[in-house]
Amino acid sequence: MKNLISVNNIELKDFEGIYKLFRDYKEKYKNGETKFTDLRGYSILLPFFESSTRTRTSFELAGKILGADTINISGSSSSVKKGETLYDTIKTLEAMNADFIVLRHYMSGAAHIVANKVKSRVINAGDGTHEHPSQALLDAFTILEKKGKIEGLKIVIVGDILHSRVARSDIKLLKMLGAEITICGPQTMLPRHLEVFEVDYVTTDVNEALKGKDVAIFLRIQLERQKKVFFSTLNEYSIRYGLNQERVNLLKEDAVIMHPGPVNRGIEMQSELVYGDRSLILDQVENGLFTRMAIYRYLLQN
Ligand code: CP
Repeated sequence: MKNLISVNNIELKDFEGIYKLFRDYKEKYKNGETKFTDLRGYSILLPFFESSTRTRTSFELAGKILGADTINISGSSSSVKKGETLYDTIKTLEAMNADFIVLRHYMSGAAHIVANKVKSRVINAGDGTHEHPSQALLDAFTILEKKGKIEGLKIVIVGDILHSRVARSDIKLLKMLGAEITICGPQTMLPRHLEVFEVDYVTTDVNEALKGKDVAIFLRIQLERQKKVFFSTLNEYSIRYGLNQERVNLLKEDAVIMHPGPVNRGIEMQSELVYGDRSLILDQVENGLFTRMAIYRYLLQN
């Protein structure tokens, strides 16, 4: 596996290989080993054409911890602003002998196009509404840590499924690992062609969706991808779909709550639940670092 573009490229043996590296790095790091030489002499370029806090920081930090040289390239301060195409930008980065290109782009399919054009290893850090495979891996690892398994778990994903690259990647990976998946959201936020999602249940009723679930993943309402008309209904969304304590009580007693972040507090969930007892949101962030260390290492050795 040279590139990480889509969950479609991840076979069970890849998942298990990356998970093993994730656990090894996390254990060593927690025992005080915070510097490694596995990527010494390698360069990682991080062109991000959309905003990011978690993904960019953790990919950069992961590279630094492994001993690589890392360079951030922000879309807004790059020569793209002067009219340079994505193709020319990426060929320029490749000419600087980049070993890894970690790309976030607003266009679905951008990482796939780039991977076909360059010799560098390419990691998709989120492309439009298409995929976010490293998020799916860290979500799966976080669930595995807390629940000890994924097979047979009842997992519900609530929110803006239509615009969510996290939902697409999570659904594919968690289904591959044997979870039962329900998706829930207003009709306008559910994909029109549901058959491509291969989920087990689809509902617009959040109370029904949450009942008896082991894991509830809430998604950010993607205001930047919504039509203007949606703005007037945010409060209604919060009332009809937002997580509150009453709805938490519908889940299994030992259920966990997740969100890829950033959270729109008071919209997808009540503020006090964001870092509450059931929340794994900060575990997801922490595991993002070790997941990205593992991804670099796995792509190098395979
Ligand atoms: N989960 C996620 O992709 O967050 P960022 O946009 O902050 O990277």
